Amino acid sequence: GKPPNLYAFPGTDELAPSLRAFVIDAQNTALERHNIFRVGVSGGSLPKVLAKALLEKKNGDNELDFDRWEIFFADERAVPLDHEDSNYRLVKEELLDKIPAEMGSPTVFPIDVRYLDDIQEMADQYEQTLVKSFAARDSVKIPMFDLLLLGCGPDGHTCSLFPGSPLLRETEAWVLPISDSPKPPPKRITLSLPVASHGIKIGFIATGGGKKEIMKQIFDTEEGHQLPCGLINTFAQDRVSWFVDYPAVEGVSFP
Ligand code: 6PG
Repeated sequence: GKPPNLYAFPGTDELAPSLRAFVIDAQNTALERHNIFRVGVSGGSLPKVLAKALLEKKNGDNELDFDRWEIFFADERAVPLDHEDSNYRLVKEELLDKIPAEMGSPTVFPIDVRYLDDIQEMADQYEQTLVKSFAARDSVKIPMFDLLLLGCGPDGHTCSLFPGSPLLRETEAWVLPISDSPKPPPKRITLSLPVASHGIKIGFIATGGGKKEIMKQIFDTEEGHQLPCGLINTFAQDRVSWFVDYPAVEGVSFP
């Protein structure tokens, strides 16, 4: 296998067109393969950058076929969908609400808020949501998202898989509950590491000077390979592409 791809830009304005091309490429491959494009997205700073990438080129845009998109959450907080901590709300406000009608509209799969008080059940239900979409067409052993768009926290977490968490050892479940997230809010659900690692394409977006220490660790140290982002790099190799800005990788030497 080959190492992950890394694309670095002065800032998010320059990063956006390249992220756009990456997403369109993943979309087209998926549509050819199974006529549907299944995407998993994170919260954090990602939805805003994604919206910039996808929505800035307005006139005559026929490259994106949102009607055939299915959007899932790589992780989600156990809060109502209109709560300020909700990743659904973030993605809706930053991206979904801004998609012009003529570009179509994605099918979105939020968490089932009937289970806010029982996150194991919420995780199980979300797994069933994935089963319904994925088992209809592919092998049910593991869902292979056409594209996962993930962030990387300053501690090296991705999705809601935190460094050193016992959740990282999960081999069966597709979706896991977490009740003690070190980053608030504490109660969340997350894709498991095997699912996060099996994306057909995986894009990490890391921008800003706050990421430079963790980027050094992930790319320049052995310990960094054990961090959640590093584990995905190691497993998925060149199925992974990093989109970063210069401040995030200042001083990083890539092997
Ligand atoms: C969450 C996010 C989380 C995020 C990282 C990176 O809900 O907590 O999905 O996993 O992707 O924390 O966040 P930033 O891009 O904001 O640094």
